[in-house]
Amino acid sequence: MRINLFIVCLLMTALYACGVKSAQKSAPTLSNADHAVGKTIYQEKCGKCHPVFDVKSKSVDRWSQVLQPMIKDKAKLNEADGKLVEAFVWNELGVKGK
Ligand code: HEC
Repeated sequence: MRINLFIVCLLMTALYACGVKSAQKSAPTLSNADHAVGKTIYQEKCGKCHPVFDVKSKSVDRWSQVLQPMIKDKAKLNEADGKLVEAFVWNELGVKGK
């Protein structure tokens, strides 16, 4: 059941993202649903090599250094998942993103 709900969320996110892509390119403002999906991806993909860090335990500067390399080189997330994780992290930190 959890998986089904997750897939529905993902589909809705994908549909939504396609619809507003051209209009909205700047820093993401996250809906609660996107935040939840980003968090799930973060928890599932970002704890394979090290613990799933509490996002707030690292500084904004540290995240700025490591987030992109982690998403692209280590976790090798696709673009959509990468964006959700990125948005989730910045959202947790309460900043707009870099
Ligand atoms: C293939 C293994 C691997 C995966 C998957 C991975 N990481 Fe990492 N991560 C590392 C390694 C190795 C380091 C230490 C490298 C460094 O400090 O530059 C690290 C360091 C970090 C740090 C810095 C920790 C600190 O103490 O400053 C953060 C934050 C981080 N990873 C987040 C993530 C996130 C977010 C993801 C998912 C998108 C992720 N990692 C996925 C291997 C991985």
